[in-house]
Amino acid sequence: MTNIKATNITWHEGHVERGEREKLLEQKGCLIWFTGLSGSGKSTIAFTVEHALVQRGHLAYVLDGDNVRHGLNKNLGFSAADREENIRRIGEVGKLFVDTGVITLTAFISPYKADRDNNRALLQPGEFVEVLMDTPLDVCEERDPKGLYKKARAGEIKGFTGIDDPYEAPENPELAINTAKLSPQEASAVIIEYLEKKGLVPPLKA
Ligand code: ADX
Repeated sequence: MTNIKATNITWHEGHVERGEREKLLEQKGCLIWFTGLSGSGKSTIAFTVEHALVQRGHLAYVLDGDNVRHGLNKNLGFSAADREENIRRIGEVGKLFVDTGVITLTAFISPYKADRDNNRALLQPGEFVEVLMDTPLDVCEERDPKGLYKKARAGEIKGFTGIDDPYEAPENPELAINTAKLSPQEASAVIIEYLEKKGLVPPLKA
């Protein structure tokens, strides 16, 4: 639980409503939450979707785990408490982004179900789209793009997700994608089709 220290604070309403921003952007803000093991394709697919959306005239932005840990979350490690705080902050940042009307994509392992569910609860129903990267561990380990699984197996990294740290897969994600079976373009198309179906993105004009 977060220790609340902020007291004597007042909420200020601005003069511009979210709906006005969304009208300006001709889209709805939403949070597409990728979760899965390291090497499962979260960042690759999130950046592919971002690119595809921008190409069709939408404002989309990826908050990526490794990238955010270079800045905002550079003071957090990989203990359970630090991962929880990492995910809590991104849920709150994501909520702010959604309020701007941006189609926001997050690519974090986010190994704990409770932390992801807390973030879902920050938004209105339908605004949080959980995408499980269902790529099997052996495929992620085979890819090992950063050489981290090798180090974890050698005991050089302790508490590595999937090796000696838990990953709790969502039971009812909005989407599940196995990148061992789909190319980034195919996976991206599945996600955009879902966004269209749910009215989060208007269909492509013929
Ligand atoms: S999370 O668990 O807190 O959601 P996050 O997505 O931000 O993790 O960061 C994961 C990235 O950090 C991995 O892709 C990997 O590059 C790196 N990393 C370093 N140490 C670990 C570790 N112990 N477990 C998992 N990933 C790690």
